[in-house]
Amino acid sequence: MAPSHELVRHGYDRIAEAYLAERVRFDSQAHLERFAALLRPGARVLDIGCGAGVPADHVLVDRGFEVVGLDVSPRQIELARVQVPEATYAVRDMLELTVGEYAVAAVISLYAVFHVPRERHGGVLTTLASYVPRGGALLVTMGTSAWEGTADLCGAPMWWSHHDAETNEALIRAAGFDILSSVVDTSAGERHLVVLGRKVRETRQRPSKRGGRFSLNAATASAWSRLR
Ligand SMILES: C[S@@+](CC[C@H](N)C(=O)[O-])C[C@H]1O[C@@H](n2cnc3c(N)ncnc32)[C@H](O)[C@@H]1O
Repeated sequence: MAPSHELVRHGYDRIAEAYLAERVRFDSQAHLERFAALLRPGARVLDIGCGAGVPADHVLVDRGFEVVGLDVSPRQIELARVQVPEATYAVRDMLELTVGEYAVAAVISLYAVFHVPRERHGGVLTTLASYVPRGGALLVTMGTSAWEGTADLCGAPMWWSHHDAETNEALIRAAGFDILSSVVDTSAGERHLVVLGRKVRETRQRPSKRGGRFSLNAATASAWSRLR
C-alpha cells in the first residue's frame, strides 16, 4: 500500500473529531438539496468517503432516503454510526470496490475522491457508475486545479491528489454521466469543484491491471490515454 494511502487513513483516524468540528465551515446544503431533488422517495444512496456522515447522510436520512456509507477510516465510521444511526456503515477503501458490488439509485462523494491517486480517479468513477442504473445521480467533489501533495489538516499531515476541473469533468463524462451542473464551491475560503451528474450510458467491463475489475468504455479509454 502506498505511503500516501496510510497517511490518509491514519490521518483521518487521528483527526476525525477535529474534522467534524471544522466541517460546518464548508457549506454543502445547496448541493445536497439539488442532489436530493433528483431522487425518488426512499431511494438508496451510497456515500463514498462518508466521514462522520455529517452533513450529507444526516440530510439524506432526514428526507427519508436509505443511506449506505463507506469510509477507509475506522474512526470516521465509528463517529458516523453515532451521528447518523439510521444509516448503514462499513469500513471500505474506495480503491478496493469492485464493479457491480452495490446496486443503489445514486452515489454521493464529498471531499473524498481527491484523497486517492489521481490516476485512479477515472477507475473509481467508472466503478461508482456501475452501481447506479441509467438516470442514477452522482454528486461528487473534485479539484479545480491540478495538484498533488501533503499539507496540514486539523493538525495532522494529509495528502491530496487532483486534476484540473476540465479533466475531472472529462472523467465524469467518460464514466457514463451527463453533467447537470459543475460549480466551484468557495465555502471555507477554499475552491472545490462540485459536480452533479446523471448516468446516461452503461460502461463495458474489463479486468484492471491490479486484478480487480472496473468498467471501461471507449470514452473512458480515450480520456485516460490523454492523461497518461
Ligand atoms: C475530507 S473527509 C470528507 C468526509 C465527508 N464526505 C464530508 O463531506 O465531510 C474525506 C474522507 O474520505 C475518506 N477517505 C479517504 N481515502 C479514502 C479511501 N481510499 N476510501 C474510502 N474513504 C476514503 C477519509 O477517511 C475521510 O473520512
